Amino acid sequence: MNAQRWAWAQIDLGALRHNVETLAAHIAPQQLWAVVKADAYGHGAVECARVALQSGAHGLCVALVQEGIVLRQAGVNAPILIMSEQPEEQFRDIITYGLIATLYNESTIVRFARTASELEIMASVHVKVDSGMHRVGVQPDNAVRVASLVADSQWLILDGMFTHLATADVAETQIAQQQVSTFVRVVEQARALGIEVRHVHISNSASAIRRLDTGADCTMTRVGIAMYGIPGDAATDSFGADHQLDLRPVMSVHARVSHVQKVAAGQGVSYGLKRPLESDATIATLPLGYADGVPRGIWESASVLINGVRRAFAGVVTMDQIMVNCTDDVVSVGDEAVLIGGQGLELITANEWANKMGTIGYEIVCAISARMPRNYIN
Ligand SMILES: Cc1ncc(COP(=O)(O)O)c(C=O)c1O
Repeated sequence: MNAQRWAWAQIDLGALRHNVETLAAHIAPQQLWAVVKADAYGHGAVECARVALQSGAHGLCVALVQEGIVLRQAGVNAPILIMSEQPEEQFRDIITYGLIATLYNESTIVRFARTASELEIMASVHVKVDSGMHRVGVQPDNAVRVASLVADSQWLILDGMFTHLATADVAETQIAQQQVSTFVRVVEQARALGIEVRHVHISNSASAIRRLDTGADCTMTRVGIAMYGIPGDAATDSFGADHQLDLRPVMSVHARVSHVQKVAAGQGVSYGLKRPLESDATIATLPLGYADGVPRGIWESASVLINGVRRAFAGVVTMDQIMVNCTDDVVSVGDEAVLIGGQGLELITANEWANKMGTIGYEIVCAISARMPRNYIN
């Protein structure tokens, strides 16, 4: 039982360890770099980073400088890549904390090199190439010039070049293959000019599992969602029929029944009294709500597990509490409920919620808020 609160997210570090080992074996000889941005997709960045590094990850990837600093301050010494350009005010922190910058604009490279020279610290850089996703990165026809600008700088080390696929998780692979060949061409052009590129990387989870980067001579892979045991494809909730990997969900969401009452047929429950009960029912209240990351709109279609049985929400999710229809079953204060995860023979996945909310499992786990204690097991 969690001492702090009767609602918590359980993080199974044994499952994480298993997933990292499985994925590292799948992508070998490429290095696995664990993507632990957004507090490790809500799973806890420091704890997950440590376990990933102990289980075969070579490096870490984050989105923000602050995320890298948190890891350094926790004593993590592994390489940490920030995956996009950051504001100039943060250049000093990137360099002094020994984080690897991602750069793609010539003016940013000049200013970043100037900061490194002022600090008299050599700074590592990966150049991001926009091979077709059109989010961030240098355009392919300017990429060699940008890479040479980094390589020629006295204070910068060109540690890598990478790109990101827009359609790694869709069945059709033609667009991904075009992106891969565009990027491979850029790297070959750079090398032909004598530019040394240590790391070359393309894949995220879906691309790694499906081996979309085969033939690109990649040295590393940036693995996020698969490490947390969530298939990126919410629709099938599987890692792809052709590529079955035994990956296990790391996060589950739990609560204890905080109040039980009998409510008569015809009565509604929660704000709006929206769905009058068809028969007399035992209504169990759970002390968590949308402020904890349970989407308000999920009440209409999702289930909660109590005593191993799927139960319907009795009314809308409120900020701090939800009510569950336990029909005429005996339920007691203190009974454990599972919102995401397994109980008895039943299993509710993050992707089951994602499908009901028209989103992806990533958004569901990232939304489990900091207010929910993380309970680390195994
Ligand atoms: C540039 C980049 N690489 C890798 C990843 C990891 O992706 P995934 O969680 O699908 O493995 C992300 C996540 O969004 C990303 O933005």
